[in-house]
Amino acid sequence: MTNIIHLEKIVKKFYIGTENELEVLHGIDLDITKGEFTSIVGESGSGKSTLMNIIGLLDRPTSGTYEMLSVDVSNMRDDDLARVRSRQVGFVFQTYNLIPRMSALKNVEVPLLYAGISQAQRTERAEELLEMVGMADRMLHQPDELSGGQKQRVAIARAMANDPAIILADEPTGALDSKTSRLIMDLFHKLHDEQGKTILLITHSQPLADETGRILTLVDGQVVGERRGTHAH
Ligand SMILES: Nc1ncnc2c1ncn2[C@@H]1O[C@H](COP(=O)(O)OP(=O)(O)O)[C@@H](O)[C@H]1O
Ligand SMILES: [Mg+2]
Repeated sequence: MTNIIHLEKIVKKFYIGTENELEVLHGIDLDITKGEFTSIVGESGSGKSTLMNIIGLLDRPTSGTYEMLSVDVSNMRDDDLARVRSRQVGFVFQTYNLIPRMSALKNVEVPLLYAGISQAQRTERAEELLEMVGMADRMLHQPDELSGGQKQRVAIARAMANDPAIILADEPTGALDSKTSRLIMDLFHKLHDEQGKTILLITHSQPLADETGRILTLVDGQVVGERRGTHAH
């Protein structure tokens, strides 16, 4: 099985001022293979977002080894990291992070633009993705004309734009009511079941985590437990 993510003894410290250091991750070991739907649960402040930012190449570990797709990214240059990130990682955030005053269609086109895809192909691909997430009839709306759930659908379409190796979702339903959360979770299941996407979901909802394949529990910067979910195969 292809290893998408391989983390070994990942430590992250933040330095506040000159003397104060805060160790947030205390040596995380984690392997994620292709097609897995993994979730990470843990209380606020346990280090979930810090870990996701490292996995998503938005931040670097203080020490430890990180291989993405069997390539050591621990010491990669910033511009190389940015290239791997834009090609291999799709992000979904609690706050959607769509570009205001830009249509849903244009938002989904942005990562395709960075990937050097022509305008005609960008539009075609973005339309397909928005159809897949059930937003075919809202493609020309701007974020402020969309509901939270609709914005998150657009963000998921955008995350899928470059067919990344992994989708990282940091509390994607954190700002949504339970009915809308259900629809968003169903969409992640669809990406996983129908497209074989590798997904890492961060949530503090135990029930939502339970329906993924594998649940890791983070307490104070350490993985303290791992169990299989109802979606294990
Ligand atoms: N850039 C930063 N500088 C200093 N401390 C940070 C920074 N980012 C996160 N932290 C601290 O790291 C800890 C873990 O935060 P975070 O990863 O956001 O947790 P979670 O996502 O599980 O709520 C918290 O104590 C937080 O205050
Ligand atoms: Mg967080």
